[in-house]
Amino acid sequence: MNSYDVKKDFPILEKNKISYLDSGATSQKPIQVIESVKNFYENYNANPHRGAYSLSMEATSIYEETRGKIAKFINAKNSEEIIFSKNATESMNLVAYSYGLDNLKSGDEVVLSIMEHHSNLVPWQTITKKTGSTLSYMYMNDAYEIPDEEIEKKITPHTKIVGITHVSNVLGTINNVKKIIKYAHKNGAVVLVDASQSIPHMRIDVQDLDADFLVFSGHKMMAPLGIGVLYGKKEILNKMSPFLMGGDMIEYVYEQNTTFAPLPNKFEAGTQDVEAVVGLGAAIDYIENLGYENINKLEEELLDYAREELSKLDFLTLYMTPNRENHSGVISFNIKGIHPHDVASILDNYGVCVRSGNHCAQPLLRSIGVDSTCRASFYIYNTKEDIDNLVDALKKTYEMFRKYMKSEN
Ligand code: ALA
Repeated sequence: MNSYDVKKDFPILEKNKISYLDSGATSQKPIQVIESVKNFYENYNANPHRGAYSLSMEATSIYEETRGKIAKFINAKNSEEIIFSKNATESMNLVAYSYGLDNLKSGDEVVLSIMEHHSNLVPWQTITKKTGSTLSYMYMNDAYEIPDEEIEKKITPHTKIVGITHVSNVLGTINNVKKIIKYAHKNGAVVLVDASQSIPHMRIDVQDLDADFLVFSGHKMMAPLGIGVLYGKKEILNKMSPFLMGGDMIEYVYEQNTTFAPLPNKFEAGTQDVEAVVGLGAAIDYIENLGYENINKLEEELLDYAREELSKLDFLTLYMTPNRENHSGVISFNIKGIHPHDVASILDNYGVCVRSGNHCAQPLLRSIGVDSTCRASFYIYNTKEDIDNLVDALKKTYEMFRKYMKSEN
């Protein structure tokens, strides 16, 4: 298997001569996922859990089978621990509002890493303010990693919740979540892991990690947009209040009171995005068919190549850990003196798609002394040719601005 073979499964990449280096924002979708959604609408479309007729029951089976597939995929003990949401952001808001609001009080602490995406940070600002608890951060060292001493200094017996991204969406740093979870548990805290940037690339085992909550979005792992997952330990989810109200999360409704459905329905209000659930099931099949071992092999080679080639460009500032083993396929960079939005627009003229801006991680960028960066993020359909295109386009961009800056002086 090589990236060129894999790329053939992605119609958008076959049709457009682009180097798509923004999979951290959203991945492209293989034909197998696209066809699964079409097949659902052509053969199975009905509202699950609502009808006593065969089509609705078939839709229910597909929906619930996919839940089971996800449980197996991340090694959850059972499928009731899998909650469908709109995306990882909604899943994290669910935890903040349903768990945080009921369990935090004055004197308690929420500890996050400074690497968090706004969606694992802003909800905690709101909830700590509402409950009178405090919010603190684990900061990085010069290698863009969170050192052990920082973990041990910040997580204390007052800490009730720890929020940690598995892989930074800006730096690609892989955090030692297993260690953080162990240390948090020792101090009596629960841990919410944001696996949005890790699960597309590496096997997640929630029992091995011992995560209390773990969230991810489907769209970064080749599934459709609009589907997210919350994993939670059953004993914790059972005790939590519902988040959104109405629809299938209801058991009995009286004029003044309501009783709620058991897990997992308790957290799934309203008609769900069933086509995206179906697509997520197909994306998991696609990943399992390729095999994480093969995915890792391809991606590791590509990342080695990208690190090496980009490091040769002395006009670039690179924001990445020197410790290769702690780095996953995301590289942020700036060209000295040129705004990242200008760089990204010019790269686009050469058919290279990168993200620019603050990447929904303003506190992280501030902590490394910048407002914004360009970011290239890689996936299994990327080839060495894509890296070469990026490097060539960067050289041309730099040359163009250099001439312009000289003529200005
Ligand atoms: N969270 C996504 C990113 O990092 C959108 O680009």
